[in-house]
Amino acid sequence: MVIRKYQPKDFENMRKICFETSSGFDSDRGKQALYAMYCDYYVLEEPDTCFVAANDNDEAIGYVICAPDQERYNKIFHQKYDPIVKKASFSRWLMHRLGNMMSKKVSKLYPAHLHIDILPEGQRQGLGHRLVDALILDLKQKGVKGVYLVCGAGNKKGVNFYRKYGFKEFSNAFGSVTFVMDID
Ligand SMILES: CC(C)(COP(=O)(O)OP(=O)(O)OC[C@H]1O[C@@H](n2cnc3c(N)ncnc32)[C@H](O)[C@@H]1OP(=O)(O)O)[C@@H](O)C(=O)NCCC(=O)NCCS
Repeated sequence: MVIRKYQPKDFENMRKICFETSSGFDSDRGKQALYAMYCDYYVLEEPDTCFVAANDNDEAIGYVICAPDQERYNKIFHQKYDPIVKKASFSRWLMHRLGNMMSKKVSKLYPAHLHIDILPEGQRQGLGHRLVDALILDLKQKGVKGVYLVCGAGNKKGVNFYRKYGFKEFSNAFGSVTFVMDID
C-alpha cells in the first residue's frame, strides 16, 4: 500500500470512501450535503494537503484530507459549499454551522483541520498512522503550526486512534471530542 498525494483521478473513490465510512447520509440530499461538507471542499480547494492510501491498482482506499488555514476555509466554504449544504439539508447545515462556530477558539491556535477515513479492508494495518505522518510532514514544510480535528465521543476507533497517535484532547463537549497536535 502506497501513501501519495491526492490526484484528480481519485475523486470518485474519495466520495466512495467518504460515504462508506459515514452513516445517516443515504438519501440523495444527504449525500449532497455529505460530499460538500466532508469531501469535495478539501479535494477541490485544498488538493495539496490531501493524501491517499492506494492499493496495488493505484486506487485510493483511504485518505486524510486537510484544510491548512481556517480563515481561508471559512471564506471559501461559506461562498461555495455552504449554499449546497443548506439547500440539501437545513438541519445538517445548522449542525455544521454550529460546529464551525465552536471551532473558533481551537482554530486560532491550531489553524489546520483534518478528516481521515479508511475503508474497512484497510483499517488497523498502520495506514492511518502513515497518512497522518505524511500530512504532518507536509504541514511542517508549509510552516503550519498546528492541526485539530473533531471526533464523535462514541467513535471508539477514532478516539483510540487519535490518542494512540499522540493527539491531545483540547475539549470534550456535546458528544464531540476535539483533538489537537502542535507541529514544530
Ligand atoms: C480511525 C481510523 C482512521 C484509524 O485508521 P487505522 O489505519 O485503522 O489505524 P492504525 O492501524 O494506523 O492504528 C491502529 C490504532 O487505531 C485504533 N483503532 C483502529 N481500529 C480500531 C478498532 N476497530 N477498535 C478500536 N481501536 C481501533 C487503535 O488505537 C489501534 O491501535 P491498536 O491496534 O494497537 O489497538 C480508521 O479506523 C477509520 O477510517 N475508521 C472509520 C472512519 C472513522 O472513524 N474516521 C475518523 C472519524 S473522526
